[in-house]
Amino acid sequence: MDMTVSRVDPAFRDDVRRCFAEGSHAIPARWLYDRRGSELFEEITELPEYYPTRTETALLEKYCGEVADMGAKGRAVIEFGSGSSTKTPHLLRATQPTAYVPIDISGEFLAASAAQLQEQFQQLPIYPLEADFMRRINLPDEVSNMPKLGFFPGSTIGNMIARTSVDLLRFMRETLGTGSQLLIGFDRIKDPDILVAAYDDSAGITAEFSLNLLHRINREMDGDIAVDQFRHIAIWNDLYARIEIYLEAQSDVCFSIDGQQYGVTKGQKIHIENSHKYGLRDARLMLRAGGWSPVSEWSDEKNYFSLILAEAHPLKNAP
Ligand code: AVI
Repeated sequence: MDMTVSRVDPAFRDDVRRCFAEGSHAIPARWLYDRRGSELFEEITELPEYYPTRTETALLEKYCGEVADMGAKGRAVIEFGSGSSTKTPHLLRATQPTAYVPIDISGEFLAASAAQLQEQFQQLPIYPLEADFMRRINLPDEVSNMPKLGFFPGSTIGNMIARTSVDLLRFMRETLGTGSQLLIGFDRIKDPDILVAAYDDSAGITAEFSLNLLHRINREMDGDIAVDQFRHIAIWNDLYARIEIYLEAQSDVCFSIDGQQYGVTKGQKIHIENSHKYGLRDARLMLRAGGWSPVSEWSDEKNYFSLILAEAHPLKNAP
């Protein structure tokens, strides 16, 4: 009997099987973020072409004081998908929260970034929570009676299709409760050349980030995919207002994963990520669909990125 304990997440294995055996030719973007993928994403955020991180950080530096003045001061800050929490200090400094709850699916990342923040904010009670924020979450008892401010930066919501985004906003509303606020980042629609460059940079880091998904399959599922036979492509889909990322086979490629043989033909594209962008009022409409009333919006001079503060008002019957 084989006594080896597999390290592979069974949901990842199912998604990969669906892609190659059932011909979905798509793998959910969340599998891009193993340790190497997370490192590469950190590199992406510093690329000259990748404007979202630096634009949003500048907005937070400039406007967190106004956010605080709009009722966000003195609440417990709950950050969804906190990762390395790099943008959080601006918000914490301005809003002086009663507690901070970073939520992330990766416990490893969470503990390290919570410890780092604790050094900077020694008086702040921090309660890291390892959880999947795509579901309703039970927050720590210590914060249950505190007014809350959700924080969801990075336009991470853009990596979800509209239906999933609205589901997430509703879960956030259930998790945080009526009367809570939410500060959320949205990447805006802009010149497609700027968008495509942000997702296909000249140094090839985003390509490496995408191709790491195939390396990850090889590493975790005993695969032998010839990764150099695939190329990263980023295209702007104007109808859906999103950047779509694919891995395209450059030749007919045969490979095995977990001892099973698969093949893809030359030109076959595997869809690995969407990054939706939002027009002037699109994000506000989506927030309202998810049960959040926009309170205020801040954008940079070029309207590249928006931060929106929204509130979970008591639900009323619509006229
Ligand atoms: C995490 N997320 C908001 C990034 C984005 O811009 O959609 C992921 C990304 N993928 C490639 N580059 C950046």
